Amino acid sequence: MFSRQVAEELRSFETPFYLYDISLLRQTLESAVSVAKKYGYVLHYAIKANYDPRILSVVRDYGLGVDCASGNEIRCALEAGFEPSGIVYAGVGKRDKEIRYAIERQIFAINCESLQELDLINSIAASLDKVQPIGLRINPDIDPKTNKCIDTGQADSKFGIPYEELVSSLDHVRSLKNVKITGMHLHIGSQIRELHVFEYLCEKVNSILAHLGSHGLDFEFIDVGGGLGVNYDFPENEPVPNFASVFAIINSHLKAGGRPVHFEFGRAIVAQCGELITSVLFNKTTATGRKLVIVDASMTELLRPALYGAYHNIENITSASDVKERYSVVGTACESTDVFDESVSLPKTSRGDLLSIKSSGAYGMSMASRYNLHDLPAAVYSDDIVR
Ligand SMILES: Cc1ncc(COP(=O)(O)O)c(C=O)c1O
Repeated sequence: MFSRQVAEELRSFETPFYLYDISLLRQTLESAVSVAKKYGYVLHYAIKANYDPRILSVVRDYGLGVDCASGNEIRCALEAGFEPSGIVYAGVGKRDKEIRYAIERQIFAINCESLQELDLINSIAASLDKVQPIGLRINPDIDPKTNKCIDTGQADSKFGIPYEELVSSLDHVRSLKNVKITGMHLHIGSQIRELHVFEYLCEKVNSILAHLGSHGLDFEFIDVGGGLGVNYDFPENEPVPNFASVFAIINSHLKAGGRPVHFEFGRAIVAQCGELITSVLFNKTTATGRKLVIVDASMTELLRPALYGAYHNIENITSASDVKERYSVVGTACESTDVFDESVSLPKTSRGDLLSIKSSGAYGMSMASRYNLHDLPAAVYSDDIVR
């Protein structure tokens, strides 16, 4: 909730822009790190969620490693000062040059997503005279009970190695001389709010560990990925996600046998500290009676609603009206799916008002594009203004 004074101060910045609450980011990291420490858990930040340099420097202050999804993300993490020894790298379609770069930089593990990829990593490592540590990303066939578009752990998903295929190829996996299987990796999806799903994940990991162990394949660490969801409906009620609950579930259900357990949170770290501030350009009512509020942001700044129908809470932070109206808040891009909310109740909203599109710190700026040759949005940090 903005004071009127702060909302008016925001008018001095050109919209649209991302506003980051750095003290909330610190609070979130403090919470994640302090509970993780209790269990000895290792945290990586999924840099795909947001690679703003200021955010990265705060994340680095708290000692997290990084989960990367491309060679450029690895480069970005290294340039931001993260240690290679804290970097993991997943992705179904790693290019040869990205694999070579990861091996040369001596990252903690490449999380490998297919047996064909494992052969390729082996041959590139051989050409560099290296032995590359590998986390095997196993597809556990679990329904994470989230939006289908961000579900990555079911059997027909493109992610991870099908388990039966892995089991039938163990002799081949063991024969590869330039890879060393160090970890088991899983990531079943994002925005997981039904936390019991993590119990199923643990049960799956326990049975895989036992089964592969009986076939002579052991792991030095277990990486259970990210996925912890945030409260998009009522962000003010839950500014810091419930790390304690997810860690407690993993601690009580996972039979890790003393192996370090790693996590790769993206959304849970940065979603709530960011909001997209946008100005109202026009009001228009369609012939069918749909009341549009046309704002100067669009899917080019925040793609999630257009990409997979994601919901973000919207607030008018400058209107003083007591009259509430129902609006469709739409963006400037030349796409009909460029809608932030089909039906939102706001105080009477008109040209020049500022709207805040909440919980947009994760997968907001990092998915921004220059479609329609829009400029990329700027970032403003809470410590640069008074809250
Ligand atoms: C392999 C992997 N790890 C971690 C994450 C981060 O997920 P989340 O932002 O839900 O925590 C993702 C997200 O796509 C991912 O693909």
